[in-house]
Amino acid sequence: MFGVILSSLVCGLVPYLVIRALWCHFYPKRHHLQGKHVLVTGGSSGIGLSVARQVALLGAKVTLVARNVERLQKAKEEVESACTKLEGDSSSRVQIFSVDLAGRRENIDTAIKEAEASQGPVYMLVNCAGFSRAQVFEDIPQSLVKELIDVNLMGSFTVTQEVVRGMKQRGEGGVVVFTSSQGGLVGLYGFTAYSAAKGAVVKLAEALHMELKPHGITVTVCYPPDTQTPGFEEENKTKPVETRLISEAAGLFTSDQVAKKLVDDALQGNFISTVGFEGFMLTTLCAGMGPVTDSLSLLSQMFLTGLFRLISAFYLWSFSNIVRREHEKKITAGSRTKAECSQVFFWTQACRQE
Ligand SMILES: NC(=O)c1ccc[n+]([C@@H]2O[C@H](COP(=O)([O-])OP(=O)(O)OC[C@H]3O[C@@H](n4cnc5c(N)ncnc54)[C@H](OP(=O)(O)O)[C@@H]3O)[C@@H](O)[C@H]2O)c1
Repeated sequence: MFGVILSSLVCGLVPYLVIRALWCHFYPKRHHLQGKHVLVTGGSSGIGLSVARQVALLGAKVTLVARNVERLQKAKEEVESACTKLEGDSSSRVQIFSVDLAGRRENIDTAIKEAEASQGPVYMLVNCAGFSRAQVFEDIPQSLVKELIDVNLMGSFTVTQEVVRGMKQRGEGGVVVFTSSQGGLVGLYGFTAYSAAKGAVVKLAEALHMELKPHGITVTVCYPPDTQTPGFEEENKTKPVETRLISEAAGLFTSDQVAKKLVDDALQGNFISTVGFEGFMLTTLCAGMGPVTDSLSLLSQMFLTGLFRLISAFYLWSFSNIVRREHEKKITAGSRTKAECSQVFFWTQACRQE
């Protein structure tokens, strides 16, 4: 009986989802950015800067938020020069605000109010400010844990709260994007603090999606893999070898590749945005009770989860091998040093006795 119900459900549902996916592919319902205001936190560098360039090319007015004024100024010039071929005065298209998103709430609120006063209400918010540090658990200072949570989670929370309030009041819809990480979906060696912060961003986005749906405001979460950016270079300086070897499995992408997909998914209202096969596999596997925003993703989650779980077992097995190998190397190096030390100890003892 249960089998009959299930098979008839699947037989009816699958064609419906396929037709819907095809319909959405050929007649996409998209947000449009021409003349709209897009605020990008972390817009002075890396993925955020690439996003700023992409949305400006789609005709949006852009606000870049970050701390370092020089980098902000340089980013403004870069975005403006990318838009020189567009009609209108490209120099008035981009404005910058220097704010520490881990700092005082009043400063953040004031910056958003000023940004909206000059460029109009924010239609699309892209939370891209953030950073990563990988370290072995017991070596992570409390101050770093706090900073990771303050910037990656609380920074996004505060800016979004302020922007969404206005979006809801105006009732004209809007787009909110969060930047998590593939490390926000899977806990990896060295990322205990970072994964906790980025994982929390995912749950924030899932809950907010449910709240904002009736208001026509869509929520997207971007899960970048390793992406060639100044932030990534900084992260590599202290990354444990295990973390580097494991995260290399998903490949290295450019910030433009990640940003292009982010903007495309956000404008289509897709909840998930990622690039590469590993990103697709991971987001499909971890979809769980996450929002359903497009039929194609739902179809792949329905039919590929079992297979991907099996493939993930091989990935996890190879990750454990990396960790075990590195652990053994350390033990061997440690015992060699110990042996050398004890040789030195006996030698000095012998000298003393002589
Ligand atoms: N690159 C990767 O491999 C990768 C992978 C997964 C996820 N991500 C995530 O993607 C996002 C962008 O990363 P990215 O690699 O493009 O980094 P990035 O090149 O270092 O850019 C980070 C941006 O955030 C700003 N920022 C950092 N802390 C801030 C604060 N407290 N207040 C205001 N602005 C702040 C930075 O400017 P200032 O320093 O001047 O403030 C900069 O504009 C981050 O959330 C990161 O965690 C990156």
